[in-house]
Amino acid sequence: MRVLGIESSCDETAIAIVKGEGDVLSVETSLVSSQIDLHKAFGGVIPEVAARRHVDVIFPLLQEAGIPRDGQGIDAIAVTSGPGLVAALRVGVELGKTLAWMWHKPLVGANHLEGHIYSTWFAEPQPSFPALALLVSGGHTELVLMKDHGRYELLGMTRDDAAGEAFDKVAKLVGLEYPGGPKISALAKEGNPHAIPFPRPMLDSDNLDFSFSGLKTAVAVYLEKNVSSPQTLSSQGGEGVVQLRNVCASFQQAVVDVLVSKTLKAVAKHQPKSVLLSGGVAANALLRETLARALAPAFLDVTFHAPSRDLTTDNAAMIAAAGYFRARAGRVADPFSLQADPSLRLA
Ligand code: KG4
Ligand code: ZN
Repeated sequence: MRVLGIESSCDETAIAIVKGEGDVLSVETSLVSSQIDLHKAFGGVIPEVAARRHVDVIFPLLQEAGIPRDGQGIDAIAVTSGPGLVAALRVGVELGKTLAWMWHKPLVGANHLEGHIYSTWFAEPQPSFPALALLVSGGHTELVLMKDHGRYELLGMTRDDAAGEAFDKVAKLVGLEYPGGPKISALAKEGNPHAIPFPRPMLDSDNLDFSFSGLKTAVAVYLEKNVSSPQTLSSQGGEGVVQLRNVCASFQQAVVDVLVSKTLKAVAKHQPKSVLLSGGVAANALLRETLARALAPAFLDVTFHAPSRDLTTDNAAMIAAAGYFRARAGRVADPFSLQADPSLRLA
């Protein structure tokens, strides 16, 4: 089955074709048009601006993907129907509905978070059930138990900021552009992760929830007390730059410590066969390495799966993958009634 994937939930417009045979998936085409440059000046994504850009680029992307006008060779269409920015989601959803109607092909409404989870399905060996997913993106931080394809139980989530959001907000505090995650982790490489004892929020709580806004505030307070004008990183002298690198490294270490510790807690409690790391923050090298190492001891008996770097941030291949398993199970949508749902839940 060849599935056309469409993604427009936030600031990436994406089109992909994924081939599914049995449980094996392969990416035939994956095109992503990022709007990051457009939103940089605002320090975050402006929904109306994002939606307009999706409209501008989504048809050129379809054309670039070489999809024939009659949809020949496509067996199903999967589109992100939520969660995300409603105006942005609508662009993809309306395109998906129109193509499904024109081509007489089944339409699947895919959950964006489910898509992130399925980004781990492209590499061999594939995950086994039950699988524990740590989903860390700009909008979400969740631990989800996946019992089978399409069967999810939410184990824990952030009570305030998402992990990616914390990276973005701390980046702003030190004068780095949106999205801050990659820039913080680059600076952190040259800093001392043990220089500043930032808090590890909810590390010892007996649930699987997260909280990152207090950590961000701790960084803000530290900067105010110890670094003059951190927002102008480029004007810092040698001492100031060293201090900012240490701030980035210590902040990143605090986030990773909490994410890894909670994941291990969930592994101990739910005994999954696989652990899946996904979402934009899954691109973070320290997080990938630390989690892989923590899960390595043989007594844990779990396999660890993370997507290739190009599939960590938003893309349509992951949406097509989620759509493939939904279509295979007959969970198709009515092309006349599928709606964008900005707060669509996974479980
Ligand atoms: O999954 P994604 O593309 O979009 C959402 O669905 O939210 O995730 C984007 C988030 C941003 O907050 C970005 O700063 C973060 O992922 N991110 C990173 C890294 N690369 C991207 N955070 C930490 N380290 C990175 N290397
Ligand atoms: Zn995402």
